[in-house]
Amino acid sequence: MNQDHVVLNRTNQKMPLIGYGCWKVDKDQCADTIYNAIKVGYRLIDSAAVYANEVEVGQGIERAIKEGIVKREDLFVVTKLWNTCHHKDNVRPALQKSLKDLNLSYIDLYLIHFPIPLAYADIQKHALDWFEPGTQNMKIERSPLQETWREMERAVDDKLVRNIGVSNCNVQTILDMLTYAKYKPATLQIEHHPYLQQNRLIKWVKSQGIHITAYSSFGPISYLEMSEQAKNTKPLLDHDVIKSIASKHGKTTGQVLLRWAVQRDVAVIPKSMNMDRMKSNLDVFSWSLDDDDLAKIADMDIGLRFNDTVAYGLPIPLFD
Ligand SMILES: NC(=O)c1ccc[n+]([C@@H]2O[C@H](COP(=O)([O-])OP(=O)(O)OC[C@H]3O[C@@H](n4cnc5c(N)ncnc54)[C@H](OP(=O)(O)O)[C@@H]3O)[C@@H](O)[C@H]2O)c1
Repeated sequence: MNQDHVVLNRTNQKMPLIGYGCWKVDKDQCADTIYNAIKVGYRLIDSAAVYANEVEVGQGIERAIKEGIVKREDLFVVTKLWNTCHHKDNVRPALQKSLKDLNLSYIDLYLIHFPIPLAYADIQKHALDWFEPGTQNMKIERSPLQETWREMERAVDDKLVRNIGVSNCNVQTILDMLTYAKYKPATLQIEHHPYLQQNRLIKWVKSQGIHITAYSSFGPISYLEMSEQAKNTKPLLDHDVIKSIASKHGKTTGQVLLRWAVQRDVAVIPKSMNMDRMKSNLDVFSWSLDDDDLAKIADMDIGLRFNDTVAYGLPIPLFD
């Protein structure tokens, strides 16, 4: 698999198989980081309203366009609808805010971030307040996903977004969506790394013409401050199997983890604040893993999820 993009259903738009992820990119360094990411070759930018840095992501994009490094149409910009904006009346204002913050006239791919409808809250102040004040009750809102999806589709019809998709959904949710969708999801974004390979989910979702994007390709590293599980798990970037494959190919462990995903036709969106790592993460198409490497990595699957609502103390086992 040496193609550097996949073709999305309905629009036939090409989505790069590697992009730059914006979660935890500090506001004060974000504009420069995104500008640098584009300068070194990233063409897909994976943003989200809840990352609270869309303004700065937009500034980085604007500078790259102004300097002639890329045109808008060369970029594939992804952003996501947060949980507190699922209500049919809140989808359009949330999208318009993302467009304004990113300073763009359209989004290439707009995702529903989680299939969790929470009561409306101002995303700048209360996006991560999952509970009703003073209680352990989640503020679940009676917003059926079907109504949220209709609004996503309306955004396509109004040319504000080109493709729409979902994140953190399982087979049951997508199966239901396919019964009512006018436009089926273009992609599903999921946690995916050798400890959580999700082979059955991926096989079925792809069979429906829906592409997969992996997040947290390096496994526990981005969850160290949020999860005991992550702290107690052998880092993938330092795992003996990954290290031996990396040294065999003269590559870094990061490159092996990313190559493994794209070789499965799964897009990746690594985040790095370090220019050398940012550049090296792009080198996933000039070489490949062999059958022996793939078999060794296949053996590492232990179904271990780090972005787990339960591990964060939320009373909802979303992925069960
Ligand atoms: N849909 C969702 O619910 C969801 C959830 C999580 C993430 N995401 C998306 O997925 C993106 C990526 O996932 P992630 O943020 O969890 O992180 P990730 O890309 O798996 O890992 C980022 C971490 O790895 C380090 N790193 C990056 N490249 C490296 C390399 N080659 N060697 C060693 N260390 C390296 C980074 O440190 P340095 O910065 O110091 O290099 C950072 O600590 C996010 O930014 C976001 O866009 C989506």
